[in-house]
Amino acid sequence: MTQQTSKKNPKKILVTSALPYANGSIHLGHLVEYIQTDIWVRFQKMQGHTVHYVCADDTHGTPIMLRAEKEGITPEALIANVHDEHSADFAEFLVEFDNYYSTNAPENKELSQSIYKKLKTAGKIATKTIEQFYDPVKNMFLPDRFIKGECPKCHAKDQYGDSCEVCGATYNPTELINAYSAVSGAAPVRKETEHYFFKLSECEDFLKEWTRSGTLQGEAANKMGEWFESGLNDWDISRDAPYFGFEIPDAPGKYFYVWLDAPIGYMASFKKLCADKGLDFDEYWNKDSNTELYHFIGKDILYFHALFWPATLEYSGYRTPTKIFAHGFLTVNGEKMSKSRGTFITARSYLDHIKNPEYLRYYYAAKLNSTMEDIDLNLEDFVARVNSDLVGKYINIASRTAGFINKRFGGKLKIPSTHPSAVQEIKNSASLIADCYLARDYGKALREIMRLTDLANADIAAAAPWITAKKEGEDASLQLDCSSAIEMFRLLTIYLKPVLPNLAAKIEAFLNVPELTWVSVDTPFETGHQINTYEHLITRIDPKLIEAMTEANKENLQATPTVAQTVAASSTALPEVEYISIDDFTKVDLRIAKIVNAEHVEGAEKLLKLLLDIGEDKPRQVFAGIKSAYDPATLVGRLTVMVANLAPRKMKFGMSEGMVLAASDECGGPFILSPDAGAQLGMRVK
Ligand code: MSP
Ligand code: ZN
Repeated sequence: MTQQTSKKNPKKILVTSALPYANGSIHLGHLVEYIQTDIWVRFQKMQGHTVHYVCADDTHGTPIMLRAEKEGITPEALIANVHDEHSADFAEFLVEFDNYYSTNAPENKELSQSIYKKLKTAGKIATKTIEQFYDPVKNMFLPDRFIKGECPKCHAKDQYGDSCEVCGATYNPTELINAYSAVSGAAPVRKETEHYFFKLSECEDFLKEWTRSGTLQGEAANKMGEWFESGLNDWDISRDAPYFGFEIPDAPGKYFYVWLDAPIGYMASFKKLCADKGLDFDEYWNKDSNTELYHFIGKDILYFHALFWPATLEYSGYRTPTKIFAHGFLTVNGEKMSKSRGTFITARSYLDHIKNPEYLRYYYAAKLNSTMEDIDLNLEDFVARVNSDLVGKYINIASRTAGFINKRFGGKLKIPSTHPSAVQEIKNSASLIADCYLARDYGKALREIMRLTDLANADIAAAAPWITAKKEGEDASLQLDCSSAIEMFRLLTIYLKPVLPNLAAKIEAFLNVPELTWVSVDTPFETGHQINTYEHLITRIDPKLIEAMTEANKENLQATPTVAQTVAASSTALPEVEYISIDDFTKVDLRIAKIVNAEHVEGAEKLLKLLLDIGEDKPRQVFAGIKSAYDPATLVGRLTVMVANLAPRKMKFGMSEGMVLAASDECGGPFILSPDAGAQLGMRVK
């Protein structure tokens, strides 16, 4: 990108956002990070620095492998689909990567293997035989997330292997009661296996030094202090086949754990960019590099970026990051994003309903600062803030004044020799606002910009061009006043451009100016500059759209999930499936039953009364809600499947001693189940 340079010493900067997992859709939580980074990158580019912003999908690991298997496709096909989906989402939210790659790329394989070899040469790799849970049915080792069972503390059923969602206890999967594999339902067994470790325990001195050098925010440095205090453990970097990832050199059947090759994906994505653009990879990654390297991440992955990653780089001979910027988590209406409340909103769902991505960019920017505090998207406040700040205040400056310039003065501006004080004040804030952006305190930047916007509006109200316009002989002052307003609008547009790039581009066209950068602050309009006709730039958000969006996200839950929704639901590790164990299943006594009698029940709208023979002394009486689909006479003599050990229930029309299985949904049914020919009454169904 060619841009004017505002600094004497333009910098060379490489910026990354964390690589989103390729097994889920991008949601509004993710977007906090990508929008935050994109604003910073755009700001730095406007400053005239050379900035490369790279990212990629994080494609390896067990969850992706199993998901692909479940969908009946290869992992490669799954990640290709998701790559398309993610790329489109980011592009539409105006997150402008210079390269968006994949960790499953040749550059990444080569870099990961060579970094591993360098670590090995540096004596930082050890092997150890460990015991791990193994699924004897699926023949694979199980990550903790794939082991479920009863919580050892509160005895809640079906809890994950690492923590209980009911009482919050954390524990080892070994402590689970009646553990079972979430993949096959089998009881996992313990099995020995040799693993490869990165000797993080030997990196403490280096890491302490690195932390002290100002690479982390205060809160993050404190967190590091806690980790140092509890001691650093060696890091297990291998996983056994089957695993979707890269094989470890000279270790057949052993693969790099996804978190080993994921951050190397930053380098790989940049390497691809270098090949495409003729950039020098080594200039950015060699140990004595003069370039800067920044990683934007969420606070949940600090451990990986502040411990493993710098140590990996250091001991494989590369430069370490200049700074790690960690942000907090998104809450919606003050609470964790929730599917039942309809606040677990995907990027796509936002685009489908609200359409304009810049509203969200503006709101996030207004909420963001440089800390790791969580940020809240209050949907009511979102509508109010965007409508009042952007439409009511900022765009209002142009919409109230441009018409006069267009209609009365042929679009020509008239600029006084000295600017009015409001224009001066707005101009003078350029460096304060730049400092705020640089420090990632976008909230403060926008508060200042809105203060200036109020100032501009007050100035216009005082000049009251709509009154001047009606007076005879006041043309000169009308043209001057409106031109000043347009100059103020130009300055504010520069300041808002990192946040609102699309709107800024439309305004550049309207103002008839080349691409605005930060130095454009110093080149005000000159008398005679011709602007274009003002056309409507932005509309208010209709609160009904928000309602429709949350409603639609609630509905998604009930409907049969599409592949995309299932993928979205599993951004952590597992699809949202409540697994039962094989033991749970065998508790249900399913039998082949012969319908020996079927009749209408007087007064019952939906029920038929069935007599079912399962080889007992006397047939069972069962009331089944299948009246709408069956003429009782056609049922007599048929075989079907019944639950034989369902506790008898007293119903309005008599006792029901079991249940018949039937399929139905909104498309049709009920359809009662029948066994294939040959099945005999009384047989157990398993
Ligand atoms: N794949 C890893 C990162 C590897 S980086 C070498 C990962 N992926 S993720 O998809 O779970 O998250 C990607 C980024 O989005 C992370 O920085 C994470 O913190 C951020 N967020 C995910 N959900 C978020 C919120 N609800 N709120 C704010 N940020 C969130 O972690
Ligand atoms: Zn519990």
